[in-house]
Amino acid sequence: MAPMFRPRRLREKGLFRALVRETTLAIDDLIYPLFVVHGRGVREPLDSMPGQARVSVDELVKEAKDAAGMGIPGVLLFGLPTAKDPRGSEAYAEDGIVQQAVRAVKDTVPDRLVMTDVCLCQYTSHGHCGVVEDGSVRNDPTLELLARTAVSHAEAGADMVAPSDMMDGRVGAIREALDEAGYAETPILAYSAKYASSFYGPFRDAADSAPQFGDRRSYQMDPANAAEAMREIALDLDEGADIVMVKPALPYLDVIARAKAEFGVPLAAYSVSGEYAMIKAAGRLGWLDEERAMLEALTAIRRAGADVVITYFAKDAARLLERGRLGTR
Ligand code: PBG
Repeated sequence: MAPMFRPRRLREKGLFRALVRETTLAIDDLIYPLFVVHGRGVREPLDSMPGQARVSVDELVKEAKDAAGMGIPGVLLFGLPTAKDPRGSEAYAEDGIVQQAVRAVKDTVPDRLVMTDVCLCQYTSHGHCGVVEDGSVRNDPTLELLARTAVSHAEAGADMVAPSDMMDGRVGAIREALDEAGYAETPILAYSAKYASSFYGPFRDAADSAPQFGDRRSYQMDPANAAEAMREIALDLDEGADIVMVKPALPYLDVIARAKAEFGVPLAAYSVSGEYAMIKAAGRLGWLDEERAMLEALTAIRRAGADVVITYFAKDAARLLERGRLGTR
C-alpha cells in the first residue's frame, strides 16, 4: 500500500529542508571561553583540548579580536593566578589576572561582550570552589568572597558575571554587592544547574583547578537529578539571575528542554571541555567527521532550548556558519 503521507517530499531538496528547518544555529548564539595566564607572549597549547591554549593577556587580546572579527558576540574568561592560597585571594585582587584581562579585552574590542567566570577553584590551594574549614566546603563564608570577586570583575569592566561555584545564595549575595557598588545594570549569568560531572576533566587540566582532596559532590548537582535542577533555577531566578545555565550540555539535553519549558527565561548551556574533547578525539582518529559532529551537537543544544551556547568550538563553528554550510547540507 502506498504511504498516506510522505515526509520525504520535503527532504529531497536542500532548499526545502532549509525552508522547514525548526532550529537555527547562529554565530550570535555563541560564547567563546578562554584561559588567561600571567606573563607575556605565552601560548601553551592544551593537550586534552586540541586547538585551545592558555594565553597571556597580550595573546588573549589577539584571540578576542579574532573572535570579534568572526562575529562572535562575546568571550567568557577564566584566569590562572600566580599563586594559590586557602582563600583564593587573587580571584578578587584588583590587579588579578582576570581583572587585567577584562580591561585589556574591553580596550581592544569595546563593542564585544566580556563575561567572567566567578569562582574560587582556580585560585584556592585546595582547589575547591569555596572556603574550606575542618575538611568541608563552607557555604556562607564563601559568599562574601564570591561577591567581592564579582564586584572586582565589574570594576574592571566586565559586561556580565557568571558565578559557577554552586554555593547556596550566591546569586543573591552577588546581586546585592553589585547593586551596592553601583553596578545595578550588570547582569548575572548563573550556572544554576551545574552537575558534578566527569566531563570537566580537560578543563581542570587547563585551569589547574582539580580539587586536592575529595570531589565537588557536596556542592555540584547529582547527575541523576532533574527536578532538583528546576528548583536550583527557580532559586537563582528569585535571587535575581538574568540568564540561567545548564551545564554540561549534551548529556543534559532533557534538563535544558525542561528548563526552557518550565521557565521560559533566557537560557544558556555550557558545552564543556569533555564534550569538546570527545568530538576532537574521535575526529582525529578518523572515527567521525569532526565538523559535522560539532554542528550537529551545537544544533541539538539549541533544539533542546538553549538560547546561548558556550562552546570551545565557537570559532570553528563561526567559520563554517559564515560559509553557510549548515544550510546546504
Ligand atoms: C569552575 C568551573 C569549571 C568549569 C567551568 N567553571 C570546573 C569545575 O567546576 O570543576 C568547567 C568547564 C568545562 O569543563 O569546560 N568552577
